[in-house]
Amino acid sequence: MRIVLVGPPGAGKGTQAAYLAKNLAIPHISTGDLFRANISQGTPLGLKAKEYMSAGQLVPDSVTIGMAEDRMDQEDAAGGFLLDGFPRNIGQAEALDAYLSGKGLRLDAVLDLEVPEDEVVKRIAGRRICRADSSHVFHVIYNQPRTEGVCDVCGGELYQRDDDREDTVRKRLEVYHSETEPIIDYYKAQGLVVTISALGKVAEVTQRAMEALPSRD
Ligand code: AP5
Ligand code: ZN
Repeated sequence: MRIVLVGPPGAGKGTQAAYLAKNLAIPHISTGDLFRANISQGTPLGLKAKEYMSAGQLVPDSVTIGMAEDRMDQEDAAGGFLLDGFPRNIGQAEALDAYLSGKGLRLDAVLDLEVPEDEVVKRIAGRRICRADSSHVFHVIYNQPRTEGVCDVCGGELYQRDDDREDTVRKRLEVYHSETEPIIDYYKAQGLVVTISALGKVAEVTQRAMEALPSRD
């Protein structure tokens, strides 16, 4: 299965991706996590990405598309993948189509997570992520770790993302509406979009997603 997850910041894409990837036995590929790993390792790519991310803007396609393709080229992604946070504009969606069709492949579905904006704000305000691996995601109220401030998965320290400050969140939402939302229509034209509500408990949303996705080949 090759799936794209789409939804506003804080919709729960990373949270759902962890469960869906496990259920579907495909790797979770998050461009946000790849950028954050580069930032914590201090790579040139990380330094470049950081400028844009801390301003709530998209990292340029010239950097992002190559990074995503390199990840999809890895062996564990040969049988499918769950993309989280990529593509994020029409240019990236076209690049992904070209990449896949060059290999004789296609997407199976685009899962669109719908959440009202006030809920998104609450989710982002309480989010804490793991310093060792930013795909380990918690919430101070809705998804508490067993020990406060400590990652359940690996024992790493939990902290608040730099781009989760209120003014940056506002900018990220704006960028989502102007640049990312148009990809939903782009994929609707290909008959790929499955929209579900991302409200409710994490496990309920996962179940809703599993029921809505096309059955596996
Ligand atoms: P990225 O890391 O992709 O961030 P995002 O899209 O803004 O999404 P978030 O990570 O904020 O939210 P999420 O939907 O994953 O929610 P989560 O599961 O954490 O991108 C960051 C930046 O990187 C971008 O701004 C951009 O600069 C750059 N970037 C990344 N990809 C790019 C690309 N392709 N092109 C260019 N630039 C790119 O959940 C949120 C919180 O809610 C958590 O605390 C969680 O515990 C909680 N929660 C989850 N589900 C529930 C639930 N059902 N009920 C209650 N709480 C819940
Ligand atoms: Zn961790």
